[in-house]
Amino acid sequence: MGTGGDSPPPLQLLLLFILTILRWNWRGAAGLGCNWGAISSHPLPADIAVGLLKDNGFDKVKLFEADSRALKALGRSGIQVMVGIPNEVLAPLAASVRAAEQWVAQNVSNYISRNGVDIRYVAVGNEPFLKSYSSMFQATTFPALQNIQAALIKAGLGRQVKVTVPLNADVYQSSNGLPSGGDFRTDIRSLMLSVIAFLRDNACPITINIYPFLSLHADPNFPIDYAFFSGPANPLVDGPIAYTNVFDANYDTLIWALERNGFTDLPVIVGEIGWPTDGDPNANANNARRFIQGLLDRISRRVGTPKRPALLPDIYLFALVDEDAKSVQPGNFERHWGVFYFDGAVKYPLVLTGGGSLVPAKGVRYLEPEWCVMSPAASLTDPRLGGSVEYACQYADCTSLGRGSTCGDLGARGNISYAFNQFYQTADQQKGACGFGNLSVVTRADPTEGVCRFEIMIDIRHHDESFSSSNGGTAAGGVQGMAAGIATTAAVATTAMVSLATWSSWFMARGF
Ligand SMILES: *[C@@H]1O[C@H](CO)[C@@H](O)[C@H](O)[C@H]1NC(C)=O
Ligand SMILES: *[C@@H]1O[C@H](CO)[C@@H](O)[C@H](O)[C@H]1NC(C)=O
Ligand SMILES: *[C@@H]1O[C@H](CO)[C@@H](O)[C@H](O)[C@H]1NC(C)=O
Repeated sequence: MGTGGDSPPPLQLLLLFILTILRWNWRGAAGLGCNWGAISSHPLPADIAVGLLKDNGFDKVKLFEADSRALKALGRSGIQVMVGIPNEVLAPLAASVRAAEQWVAQNVSNYISRNGVDIRYVAVGNEPFLKSYSSMFQATTFPALQNIQAALIKAGLGRQVKVTVPLNADVYQSSNGLPSGGDFRTDIRSLMLSVIAFLRDNACPITINIYPFLSLHADPNFPIDYAFFSGPANPLVDGPIAYTNVFDANYDTLIWALERNGFTDLPVIVGEIGWPTDGDPNANANNARRFIQGLLDRISRRVGTPKRPALLPDIYLFALVDEDAKSVQPGNFERHWGVFYFDGAVKYPLVLTGGGSLVPAKGVRYLEPEWCVMSPAASLTDPRLGGSVEYACQYADCTSLGRGSTCGDLGARGNISYAFNQFYQTADQQKGACGFGNLSVVTRADPTEGVCRFEIMIDIRHHDESFSSSNGGTAAGGVQGMAAGIATTAAVATTAMVSLATWSSWFMARGF
């Protein structure tokens, strides 16, 4: 025995101490996660993005696929990683344990041992049971989950790396419109119960994406204050509980659904939550700030939901930066979910959970400070204008031009200039990309008006480490399903990479 008589020997004390710390960390949730996607014509270089995460106190990150540049940049960063498996890859992983073992070897073990990446979770699929996918991924998700879990155990990572399935909140519903009526959607109920039992048996969490913005977007009669955390006059009363915001009500609907089916203490992760800043009248910096700040304040105060007041979920904001090549099928706001602009510039001020304020990305290199605008000499009645703007916006992102968006009040000339400039920048200011004949000119006078930003893109050719743009056109699996009931097409995101051959022949064919 040790020297301490009846008191526990030092080794046991140490162990107790370590366990206490681990437990505290699990519940601590002082940190915050962030989703990092790169469906972008000019993605932030991976090393700069990792710096941005660290500088802003994000200690967890979620990737939608095992992007090698992102993972390498995350090595020894102190940031915990959830690495995703795109839905399109589930079928082969479901069909073969061997394929799952290879996936884990190449995309998990490899980065942990060679690059020192702190991978904690593998997210199997991305909202695979979304109603709008019809049942496309229903047969493959669970077997893929089982195979990946088996592969992790075989690789000796069973304790360190947990599996989960990020689900859209449309996997549950309520029979009476109240959280206490929560249960899983009837068409996937038995599948959900199998998946959840498997997660429980392997000490893995369930991951859910919750979007109050989309509740508001989907229903013009939705009481707007209820989307935020500041409490409306008329709370939703559910037995002894008064719900003052839709996040709590939504989350607790899941907790009720779990409890109803016998799962009383399954850990929950909020895999995506955020608010876009453009592309819709409700998507603006004020609302985004109000929502995210409300969420951060709760995290700082360690306030849970009424059903789980003391057990805070890990939360991953959606998203780190804007992505200008995402499908706009859910709405124009889809390209504007970033807490930061595409280049890591700050959109709105926030007080972070650690008390600090947002810090912009460091070390970004930009293209020249020059813009492509409508020529002052060109006439608004020129018949070539319509087709030119349409062409520019087909390749470049013009989602800030709509009604209620940041560039919605530019007027006709401003509109056209905006479109021309987006095209020119997206084409990396290539010689000739401001080639709309005498309709357009290059200027060094910044045409930015009010809140409407005439962007200058990142100079990706002079950043060696830029992330993922190479998969530009195909973006296989990069599709990030989003909406409560709103589909993101399984189809490929439009690519904004403008090829010289394409646009120069278009200009030529029209006599530009
Ligand atoms: C690892 O992930 C990458 C990116 O998602 C994918 O292209 C590759 O096929 C994966 N490796 C294996 C062995 O499946
Ligand atoms: C500018 O473009 C937007 C979006 O295409 C359109 O709704 C608006 O009417 C245009 N404004 C003018 C003055 O042409
Ligand atoms: C621009 O070019 C068109 C077609 O080449 C021509 O008809 C028009 O006069 C030109 N306008 C100006 C202002 O130079």
